[in-house]
Amino acid sequence: MGQGVLTPTRPPFPRVGGVLRCGSHALDDLAERHGTPLYVYDADRALERLRTLQEAFASSPRDLLVAYSVKANPNLALLRLFARAGAGADIVSGGELYCALHAGFPPGRIVFAGVGKTTAEMRDGLRAGIRAFHVESAQELEACARVATQLGREAPVAIRVNPDVRSPTHEFTRTGHAAAKFGVPPDEAIELYRRVAEHPRLRAAGVDVHIGSQLREGDPYLRALDVMLEVADRVRNEVGIALRYADLGGGFGIADAEAGELDVRALGREVAARLRGRGLELIVEPGRFLVGDAGVLVTRVLYVKRSGGKTFVVTDAGMTELIRPSHYGGVHAVTPVCEDGHGDEEIVDVVGPVCEQGDFLARDRLLPVPSPGALLCVHQAGAYGFTMASNYNSRPRPAEVLVHGGRATLVRRRERYSDLIRGQRHD
Ligand code: LLP
Repeated sequence: MGQGVLTPTRPPFPRVGGVLRCGSHALDDLAERHGTPLYVYDADRALERLRTLQEAFASSPRDLLVAYSVKANPNLALLRLFARAGAGADIVSGGELYCALHAGFPPGRIVFAGVGKTTAEMRDGLRAGIRAFHVESAQELEACARVATQLGREAPVAIRVNPDVRSPTHEFTRTGHAAAKFGVPPDEAIELYRRVAEHPRLRAAGVDVHIGSQLREGDPYLRALDVMLEVADRVRNEVGIALRYADLGGGFGIADAEAGELDVRALGREVAARLRGRGLELIVEPGRFLVGDAGVLVTRVLYVKRSGGKTFVVTDAGMTELIRPSHYGGVHAVTPVCEDGHGDEEIVDVVGPVCEQGDFLARDRLLPVPSPGALLCVHQAGAYGFTMASNYNSRPRPAEVLVHGGRATLVRRRERYSDLIRGQRHD
């Protein structure tokens, strides 16, 4: 399977009359009203992406659950949107469980991943009645059994298999190779299913993999799926349990300024072919694919400075608002919000105000040199943007606006200075 195409079905944030828009709202108007830096999300685009995945994998098995990976963007308004549209939730903490339940995801559509679940988090998940815990070690399974016994409840579990598939992506977002901290090797997985079968308070619900994030090729998924299906076969033959679902994880790559997106339709067809006749439900856990290009970060240019042969465009957003460029080498498209009011094109670095040399949003980009006060739009910022924002340099975190059906709503107010000292004592 090859790489996908660069053109999304409907380009989000189109330029109309020289100005970038989100739905019927011009981004400069939104920036004027709510200030900068500002996150803007296009709800229609996010829902369109959910439908794209639902269709791409629909021909698969008996049932399909698209479980939105909450960590990508836990804004409640987006969570509510996905919950209403029939999605499930992939969570990794008690906090995400709290938000997912608050947003209205039915517990039966929530799966709980992560190598370090605490017993308190397990208790919360069990009490809520979630679909399953995705267990990543023998000791975690023991802890889960203890919690289930204490509560007098049955814990549904799926073992996360480490398929030893090396994903072609940034090393920090590769999770399927043997040396990663995630999952257990197939033989150990079989052993864990044996323990599940023997324990009165554990029930085997499914099997799970997740091999990484921002993958543009389908082949690694198919290799991981093959390993997972072999485990499911062995569980049936050697342990005597018929698992209900196979969870392929998330990581479906989107287009950015560097390359195109994963061809999810082609992947969906291949996955369907492998699952046919097995009676397994399919779960996928997309985060970035649903919200990545449905969100942008709007930032205002403060200054342009030239030194050491370079041109720096200094903006009011930086690594505190979007850490992806400096932490993962993320290559986000950056464009002027308004076509007018810029100078000639030059190769520039777009850098933030944070006192770190590693604080940048884009490097070596050809951009019309903006004047101070101009607005820039950082694209593909809907996933792992706000959620990874920090208060470093005592910077209040930005506001978030959701545009849905023609209405722009402030779904999270900008933090104030008072938020910076909330919860602290200084006497
Ligand atoms: N399922 C599991 C178990 C995961 O750990 C993740 C992401 C996902 C699903 C969703 O992956 P997605 O579809 O969003 O790629 N902060 C990094 C990405 C970290 C992904 C962590 N796990 C970045 O900005 O590139």
